[in-house]
Amino acid sequence: MSLSPRWRVVLLSLLLTAGPAFAADRPAQAPAVASKVQKPGHAAIASANFLATNAGLEVLAKGGNAFDAAVAVASTLSVVEPESSGLGGGFMAVLRRASDGREVFIDAREVAPAAVDPKDYLNPDGSPNRDAALVGPLSAGIPGEPAGLAWLSEHYGKLPLATSLAPAIRTARDGFEPDSRLRHAIAERADDLRRWPASAAKYLVGGKAPAEGTLWRDPDQARTLQILARQGHEGFYQGEVAKKLVSAVRAAGGNWTEADLAGYRVKERAPISIDYRGYRVVTAPPPSSGGVAIAEILNILRGVEMDKLDHAQRVHYVIEAMRRAFRDHNDYLGDPDFVKMPLDMLLSPFYADGLRQSILPDQATPSSMLPTSGAHDPGPHTTHFSIIDKDGNMIAVTSTVNYTLGSTFVAAGTGVLLNDEMDDFALVPGKPNVYGLLGSKANAPVGGKRMLSSMSPSLVLGRDRTAVIGSPGGSTIITQVLEGILAFIDGKDASAIVAQKRFHHQFLPDRVDVEEGVFDAATTRELERMGYSLHPRSPWGFMNVVTWDHRSNALDAASDPRRPSGLGKVQ
Ligand code: DON
Repeated sequence: MSLSPRWRVVLLSLLLTAGPAFAADRPAQAPAVASKVQKPGHAAIASANFLATNAGLEVLAKGGNAFDAAVAVASTLSVVEPESSGLGGGFMAVLRRASDGREVFIDAREVAPAAVDPKDYLNPDGSPNRDAALVGPLSAGIPGEPAGLAWLSEHYGKLPLATSLAPAIRTARDGFEPDSRLRHAIAERADDLRRWPASAAKYLVGGKAPAEGTLWRDPDQARTLQILARQGHEGFYQGEVAKKLVSAVRAAGGNWTEADLAGYRVKERAPISIDYRGYRVVTAPPPSSGGVAIAEILNILRGVEMDKLDHAQRVHYVIEAMRRAFRDHNDYLGDPDFVKMPLDMLLSPFYADGLRQSILPDQATPSSMLPTSGAHDPGPHTTHFSIIDKDGNMIAVTSTVNYTLGSTFVAAGTGVLLNDEMDDFALVPGKPNVYGLLGSKANAPVGGKRMLSSMSPSLVLGRDRTAVIGSPGGSTIITQVLEGILAFIDGKDASAIVAQKRFHHQFLPDRVDVEEGVFDAATTRELERMGYSLHPRSPWGFMNVVTWDHRSNALDAASDPRRPSGLGKVQ
């Protein structure tokens, strides 16, 4: 694999020589057997920042597994890529444990505080108050990330939590040079950061974003990470850190209580698993909408003879499947602990048959014609990483603080930047969120409830090949991951999957968002003739993919070439 040095995204694929303990197990030839008993003998990580990837590699070299490495990567991203994820946010992960084939979805999503009040997100005239939804403590859900890291380490890791958090603590304490993405994010949100003294103190240097080459330390976050390392889950959710979080939030007009933090729990859920063209896709269930939508789309496409269609017709069927899946997203989905969802129906092949039949072979279906019930382009403000270790353990993690730098609110004395995930609820009926998504009562805000997410960390398991895949991108996460899965199943390698041009439809607004160059002139003409309105869009996600070819036992890792950040590096 070769990487262009101009990529400032990070990709690092480590070929860890199998130690003696593993040498005996390492197959001389790639066996044509279930991946359960197979081991790649080396490891690969693709993340959004080379310091985070290095942290994962460091922990693997200390004898950790993919899950310890995930803790190291996520916690380091919290320090070096705070615009995308962090201790004040939450994550969703799909993992597969090699020793017993256990597949599980780890839900470390934020929850609404008990005192959530939908009126707080309205102006006096009843119009949506977008500032409350997106900036400051009212926009922040109770974080899930620290609990998720402690959970992963305790239940799936081999090393103590303190060992896996050590690289993040060191980076926060000793400092690092913020990359251009972080510097730009700080410049973009400088006006909001200035509203909160602890945020300005943490992120602004002389009132401005740090200059290139600045050595940047984060001593408060180093201390919070150290407490988490020593005390585990309770270190964040009870005691000194929890008290500081609550008092900072309440002093700035928020409504968190210590009971909200003490009551936070990680949830393990059964992933959605769907067969498609000889592969099994293992992906995120509610409270993500991603897996349901991906499964619905694949079920619709399964009955289309794609090989017999020209390019424009294939795209047409994919768009129509996206449209129908997002219609259902808006109508039905929310936190499974709070709402009953017709998942059996949505995931059923018979339901997909009906939807497929409603697709006209040569014409777009206007969304207004489908019975049911303007978007902002999200930047790369969420992060995804993928890991496969030498034993074949694998994990796909998508982590977020929602919008760039989340709520921009840092809780004084903790170094913790809070998310603005409350905007992922359907806060005001009939009004879209920052990604243009609509929702129903199923996604209305209620204390203790998880807000619906599009995060779609996924595994694609085949007899001969496996992929670990995911991306940020707000509502486009779902369609980007879907297109990545289809590309992998079509035989593309990791670099081609992340580089592939993208398109997106989310039911409303009724248009196809297109990346420049995704369709040639003939396809564009044909799609327009069918009635599609094509809408140029940028940016597009930040996909990080690891693939494993079981026949050669080769691992490959690739990072999205669209996002300049850090240094490209392959070992
Ligand atoms: O959970 C979600 O769906 C969103 N909070 C993700 C936000 C995101 O991907 C922003 N990045 N572009």
